Amino acid sequence: MQSLTFLGIESSCDDTAAAVVRHVPGAAAQILASVVDGQVALHAPFGGVVPELAARAHAERLDFCVERALAEAGVSLSDLDGIAVTAGPGLIGGVLSGVMCAKGIAAGTGLPLVGVNHLAGHALTPRLTDGLAFPYLMLLVSGGHCQFLRVAGVEDYTRLGGSIDDAPGEAFDKVAKLLGLPQPGGPAVEAAAKTGDARRFALPRPLLDRPGCDMSFSGLKTAVLRTRDRLAADQGGLHLQDRADICAGFQAAVADVLGEKTRRALDLAPVTGFAVAGGVAANSAIRAVLETVCLAKGVPFLAPPLRLCTDNAAMIAWAGIERFRAGARDGMDLMARPRWPL
Ligand code: KG4
Ligand code: ZN
Repeated sequence: MQSLTFLGIESSCDDTAAAVVRHVPGAAAQILASVVDGQVALHAPFGGVVPELAARAHAERLDFCVERALAEAGVSLSDLDGIAVTAGPGLIGGVLSGVMCAKGIAAGTGLPLVGVNHLAGHALTPRLTDGLAFPYLMLLVSGGHCQFLRVAGVEDYTRLGGSIDDAPGEAFDKVAKLLGLPQPGGPAVEAAAKTGDARRFALPRPLLDRPGCDMSFSGLKTAVLRTRDRLAADQGGLHLQDRADICAGFQAAVADVLGEKTRRALDLAPVTGFAVAGGVAANSAIRAVLETVCLAKGVPFLAPPLRLCTDNAAMIAWAGIERFRAGARDGMDLMARPRWPL
C-alpha cells in the first residue's frame, strides 16, 4: 500500500473547510492541517443558514482556506497525491463552490480528484481517529442529520433507522428559540439543563413504543411549546428555574430515545464498536447515556474529538484516501449533488 497525502475540501453547509491528511500504511493517519472557517456570525441575524449567503462566503473563502491548510501542513501542491471534495449532499451553491475549486486545482496540477459523500466523511471518521475496523455502528446526530449506519466497508453502508422528522440538533435549536435562549441552541440548552430537574415536566419519548430504530423529535418540541405556554398562562411568564427544568426534561427525553434506539441497533448485528458524530455528540448527558448502553452490551464506545465530529475537511480528505485506495477516481464531470443518500 502506498503512502498518501490528500487535500480535503468541505463546503456543503455553513463551514468553509480545507485540510491535509497523510496516511502511511501501518501507522495512524495524521491530520497535518485542518482549517475550518465557520459562518455562524454571518447567518446569526437570520436565525438559520441562508443558502445564498453561504454559497457566496464559500466562494470567497475557499482559496484562502486551502492556502492556509497547505501552509499549516508545510506542504505544497506538488507534495499531494490527490484532492478530495464533498460533492453532496448539502446546499447546492456551497457544494458547487467546493467542487469547482477542487476541479480547478486538479486541472491545474494533474492530481487525481475524488468526490466524497459528506455523510461518508462523517461515517469514516472513527477510522481516521482510531483505525476502527469494519463493521461498526455509527450514529450521526447533528442539526441536519439523524441516522444509524452500519458501516461494513468504504462503500458499504446500511441505514438501520433515523429520524422521521426533525434532527435532534434542530430540535435543540428550536427549543432554545422557544425559551428565548441563544443560537446554536444545543450548548445553551445543555448549559441551562445543568441546574434543572428533568422529572418536573413529563415530556414524551416518541416512537419508543414502536419496534425498530426510527426516531421522531418534532412531537417533543411541540410538548415543550405547550409546557412553556401553560406556564406562561399560569404564572405570567417563565422563571429561570422553569427554563432549566424544561431544558433538563427535554435533554433527558432526547437522551432516552437515542439510548434506547442505540440499544436496539446494537442488537441487530455484531459490530466492532459504536461511534457518534455530529454536533449533538458534544452533549455530555447524551454521550453518557450512549456510553452506558455500549458498556452494558460490551461494545467499545468511540466519540471522536468534537472538531472532528462537526463539519470539517479532514474527514473528507480521509474519506478521499479510503475511496482512492478502493479504486475511486472522478473526472471533470464530477457533479455537485444536493441530495445523495449513502
Ligand atoms: O454537526 P453540526 O456542527 O452541523 C450540522 O448540523 O451539520 O451540528 C450542529 C448542531 C446544532 O443544531 C447544535 O445546536 C447542535 O449540533 N449541538 C448540540 C450541542 N452542541 C451543538 N446539541 C446538543 N448539545 C450540545 N452540547
Ligand atoms: Zn455534517
